[in-house]
Parts: sequence; structure tokens; C-alpha cells
Amino acid sequence: MAIKILGTGSYLPENIVTNEDFTKIVDTSDEWIVKRTGIHERRITETPTYVMAETAARRALENARTAPEEIDLILCTTVSSDFITPSLACIVQGRIGAKNAIAFDINAACAAFVYALDLADMYLLRGMGKILIISAESLSKITDYTDRSTCVLFGDAAGACVVTAGEGKFAASFGCDGAGAWTLFARQHKNQVPFVEVIDPQEIDRFPDAKDGTLYMDGKEVYKFAVGAMAKALTDASGKFGLALEELDLIVPHQANIRIIQTAAKELKLPLERFYVNIGRCGNTSSACIPVALDEINRAGKLTAGMKVGLVGFGAGLVYGGCVFEV
Ligand code: UT7
Repeated sequence: MAIKILGTGSYLPENIVTNEDFTKIVDTSDEWIVKRTGIHERRITETPTYVMAETAARRALENARTAPEEIDLILCTTVSSDFITPSLACIVQGRIGAKNAIAFDINAACAAFVYALDLADMYLLRGMGKILIISAESLSKITDYTDRSTCVLFGDAAGACVVTAGEGKFAASFGCDGAGAWTLFARQHKNQVPFVEVIDPQEIDRFPDAKDGTLYMDGKEVYKFAVGAMAKALTDASGKFGLALEELDLIVPHQANIRIIQTAAKELKLPLERFYVNIGRCGNTSSACIPVALDEINRAGKLTAGMKVGLVGFGAGLVYGGCVFEV
């Protein structure tokens, strides 16, 4: 049994922010951003995360010709929900009227869509019929727009897909290095508790520059992790699937930096053309990167039966996940 994608959907906010726009708020240049990251523009919006998630979900349901009532489970991935509780998945369940679905969120940062697919695979094995996965991120809400080393990277977007059980195979590989937790993090805003002195956890004391509520990143460390993680996740997932890497028809990687994708492609001895890249238009939208890309590929008619597709993500945790499936 394997996962079959019945339909995909996505939502990219209309508002485009160019590299030139960033030169007005921080000391940067279009040349630096393009050369070091491959990003030309990203989408940034005030639209709530749950509205982006709902829009992507409705588009995926329509594309899958599936009614909301047919969905048994909604899995949402996000690090930038509008609410601590309830889950994004529950809010979307109510708004689309998926009254037969159970719903919850997972947080595996930028790799979360791959984790969600793997969880969906397990639920399908337990007999569920149709599952809606939504990855929605408003990274603009947790971006420090005074920090030039991070603010130029991130954008907002949502991607979704409806999956069911199909023929063929699905294989995945995951990893976690919690020792790297402090290379990429965003802390909740501190509570003002009236009864006790609020003490910063020791780990956070080590990062005087990190601001509450926004992303802090040691870019170089994450970069090193990312290249190794991409190569390992894809190699392991392909091996479990029973495929040689060069037999993969298409790889949809997390879109963090074009140089990470180029270096991983080189390490894996795969042509760069095999990797789908939209970072130039969208920037890094964390867990939404992969499903947004999948929707673009699907709507361009480029997901054809029999194709072997690899997905690979990595990010805060530090975590990574890769999977291979047949269309
Ligand atoms: O999705 C989550 C996972 N995230 C990632 O995978 C991100 C991984 N990391 C990266 O992609 C890269 O490390 C960055 C794009 C974040 C940074 O690129 P880099 O080539 O590692 O640059 P750097 O941090 O070594 O900085 C080089 C120089 C520094 O100046 P000095 O110290 O050499 O004078 C920075 O201050 O570039 C400077 N710099 C900038 N200059 C212009 C940093 N950001 C900017 C900027 N514009 N936006």
C-alpha cells in the first residue's frame, strides 16, 4: 500500500516584496540576496494563517473532487499559527465543514510536510479513507525585520493535498539532532507572571541578540546541517524504496537557499534540473515550501503516473525528513 495524492492546492498571498524593498529597511542589496540565497522576491501578508490554510485546503479538495465530509483526518503543519490553541487543523475543520474529520497540528518546522505524509501513511494503513494535509506559514509574523541575516529569507504561503491509499510503495527516512536546537529558534513572548520572578532558561541566556517571538538563526550551522541532512534523507528514503538515487524523476526540496540545493545535488551526483526550485519567487516559507511546489508541479501537468518523486525537508529542531513515492 502507498500514499496516493488525489489533489493539491496552495495559496500565495498577492503582496510581493522585492529585494529592493528590503534595501529600504536594512543594510542589504539585491545582489547579496540573489547571490547568497537565490531569492528575488517573497510574498508577505496580513492574512491570518488559518485563512491561508483554509484557501489552500479548499483548492486541494476541489482538485481532488472530494467533499469536506469525506475527510477522516486533517493534519496541519505550522510554526506560525495565529493561536497557541486551538490547533490550526481544528479551526480549518470548522471553517470548511469537514465534520467527520479528527484534526490536529504537528510541528517539525520546515520538514513537517514530510512528517505529515508519513503520519498519513500510518493512518491510511489503519483504515482511514481520505486525509487532508495542510502546511500553512505566516513567517512574517515571527520575523525580526531589523535582522538582515534572516528577514530577507522568509515569506508567507500555504500548501495542501488530499491523500488516500493507493498501489505501490511509500518510503521515508527521518532524523533529529536536538543538540542543534539553539541554532534556529523562536521563543514565545515572556509571560508576566505576578507571583514569581520570571527567569530566562539558561539556553536562551547564551543568545543576547535573540528577541522574544521572532526567529533567531545561526545560518552557517544550519547550512552545514542542511546539506548533510538532504543527502542522507534522500539516500535513505530511496534505499528503503528500492531505488537508486538516479532513478528519481523529480526531487522537491525545502526551499531554504539555492546554494544548499546546488551543493546537495552535487553531493548526490544528480543533475540540478531534477530538483524543483521556486525559491526565487517565494523565498523560504518553512513547511509550506514543499506542498506549494507540489501544487505548482501538479497544476502544470507535470505529476504523471508512474513517476518516482522524492521530497526532502530540514529545519529547526534540528530535524530532517525525506520520502519517496510513486505518482
Ligand atoms: O528553513 C530553515 C533552514 N534555514 C536554512 O537552511 C538557512 C541556512 N543558512 C543560509 O542559507 C545562509 O547561511 C544565509 C543565507 C542565512 C547566510 O549566508 P552566508 O553565506 O552563510 O552569509 P554569512 O552569514 O556568513 O554572512 C556573510 C556576510 C556577513 O558580513 P561580514 O561579517 O562578512 O562583514 C553578514 O553580516 O554577509 C552579511 N550579511 C548580509 N549582507 C547583506 C548577512 N545578511 C546580509 C544581507 N545583506 N541580507
